[in-house]
Amino acid sequence: MELQRLTDRLGGLAFGGDYNPEQWDAEVWKQDDELMRRARVNLATVGVFSWALMEPEEGRYEFDWLDAHLDRLHAAGVAVDLATPTASPPPWFTLAHPDALTIRPDGTRLTHGSRDTYCLTSPAYRRAARRIAAALAERYGDHPALALWHVHNEYVTPCHCDHTAAAFRVWLRARHGSLDALNEAWGTAFWSQHYTSWEQVLPPRTTQWHHNPGHVLDYSRFWSDETLAAYREQRDAIRAHSDRPVTTNLMVPDYQNLDLWAFGREVDLVSVNHYPSAPGIDAAAHAAFDADRARSFAGGAPWLLMESGTNTVYAGDRILPKEPGDILRHSLVHIARGSEGALFFQWRQSRAGAETWHSAMVPHAGPDSRTFREVTAAGEAIARLGELAGSTVRADVAVLHDSDAWWALNVDGLPSGELAYHPALRRAHRALWDAGLTVDFAHPEHDLNRYRVVLAPALFLLTDAGAENLRRYVAGGGTLLIQHFGGIVDEHLHARLGGYPAAPLREALGIRVEEHRPLAQGEEITLSDGSTGSSWSESLRAEGAEVLAAYTHGMLDGSPALTRHAFGSGHGWYLSTRLDDAGYTALVGRLLTEAGVGPDLPGLPAGVEAVTRHAPDGRAWHVLINHLDEPVPLPRPGHDLLTGGPVSRLPAGGCAVLRAL
Ligand code: GLA
Repeated sequence: MELQRLTDRLGGLAFGGDYNPEQWDAEVWKQDDELMRRARVNLATVGVFSWALMEPEEGRYEFDWLDAHLDRLHAAGVAVDLATPTASPPPWFTLAHPDALTIRPDGTRLTHGSRDTYCLTSPAYRRAARRIAAALAERYGDHPALALWHVHNEYVTPCHCDHTAAAFRVWLRARHGSLDALNEAWGTAFWSQHYTSWEQVLPPRTTQWHHNPGHVLDYSRFWSDETLAAYREQRDAIRAHSDRPVTTNLMVPDYQNLDLWAFGREVDLVSVNHYPSAPGIDAAAHAAFDADRARSFAGGAPWLLMESGTNTVYAGDRILPKEPGDILRHSLVHIARGSEGALFFQWRQSRAGAETWHSAMVPHAGPDSRTFREVTAAGEAIARLGELAGSTVRADVAVLHDSDAWWALNVDGLPSGELAYHPALRRAHRALWDAGLTVDFAHPEHDLNRYRVVLAPALFLLTDAGAENLRRYVAGGGTLLIQHFGGIVDEHLHARLGGYPAAPLREALGIRVEEHRPLAQGEEITLSDGSTGSSWSESLRAEGAEVLAAYTHGMLDGSPALTRHAFGSGHGWYLSTRLDDAGYTALVGRLLTEAGVGPDLPGLPAGVEAVTRHAPDGRAWHVLINHLDEPVPLPRPGHDLLTGGPVSRLPAGGCAVLRAL
């Protein structure tokens, strides 16, 4: 079946958000129609948490209220992204099916009263989820308002119940074939963990001390596959009745325990939610990180920012406001990187309930507010960018991402508590972002030849195939940076013997690491080039590589810290400590210079983004975002789609979208 493209249906980029009209009355709905028109909203996500209304008792569906909203939205010119409500089963469901409730690793059985409280592996839950997805698809599959299907919401809740144990065993049999192979893979010869029947194998529930690492890693893989299977069931139920694309909204940071490469292959349109964790320029860098990851998981195809907050920065125990102008700037950070629009959670700020204090497009104060004025301005701006629909983004540099490597760094018993995966990726991305580059993410086993520079900041787990692929990449002319504790274990978390990292990679790097020497918290180690390292150091030998900086400290005095190896027609770099910020930025800058890589629009200061979207017919657009508090002259003037006129400078905090000539 030929699927309808979202932007074709909308006639441009998407702008809007989650719409939960069931929280309001007819008076407010009337106002919503008018305000959506003013804000140029063309897409509303409906039904995300509406299970209790859609199916007030088992098997009895009530859709009249939803018909009315869809018809009203359609009449108001707003298309609908219709959600299946399966992230929030109603209380009747959990009372009827207590075995479908989440069990925590410590055995606690959760109960209803929040959301996301269900077990994905429970047959009752899966049946109910498929049924309601099919009922919605049958009724609305060709509704004129319908533009997109939104399966579930942020698949997130792992479970450790008996259903999960049974499903885990099925998965393990398929992966390992036999118990002997499982015992071998998990290294159960130690600590008397040997399994003699499948029934003995459980999800990793609370135990006395370190869990077996192979067990934990396989559980993460299993849970991701199980979640994908649950998604597919709903998607297929919908496909039987509808030609509109199907997505599920992903969280691209580490909130979801999912292999997002796999999800990227199964959805018709990758969609993601983004909430920054720090204000100011850090929020913009964080948005760029998530947006680059979303595009990469989409295989470079257009994708969609499904949710962000108009005024939400999740900073620990508080929700900080965004800065004036951030609504448009942050939306453009995503659109620049291939998003087909910008959507928010949610349209109208809740008056009651669990998300009363989460920001919205229409705040408690109503339309006479800074937030709504900014929303309206952003809606008008994005409405002028319709010609960007379907265009894509190119990158010369990549950061490696592999869920196995991430999960592998979550196991017990690692030599340091400072080996977190995503912070290391964020740091590598940030150094490239600061240098003005557009960044792809790639899997270590992908074809990397199109990238001039590849950074591998936290590649603890690396398969033989991955190591061989990286060796080939360097031999073929690539520039690769492997950072400390990289290439250390195979896919079963078995340590590489005879020196780290994995052998084919050692060849490309021209080094052999003999010993890891984690540093104490706060301890620093000095390097001969004037930089300092922290958290980690290694004792290594150059085997052909050039030593660019050596440790000047203690037992490692004189031993290599940073190396570069000319291998084939490329260069393999190795960094064996966590460099200070200035040192790391300088190192990444040096790699880029040596590889001859620069920004799309040279001449802009750090803090001003320029990302180019390319149409298949050769047209291109530069999206420019000034995150600085001062105006910035443009290297060359151009025609700005946002104003419809010429532009030669960006005001402080200003944006422009130039047609590239
Ligand atoms: C997620 C959820 C929304 C909402 C927001 C709040 O993205 O999908 O329902 O809870 O977080 O930030």
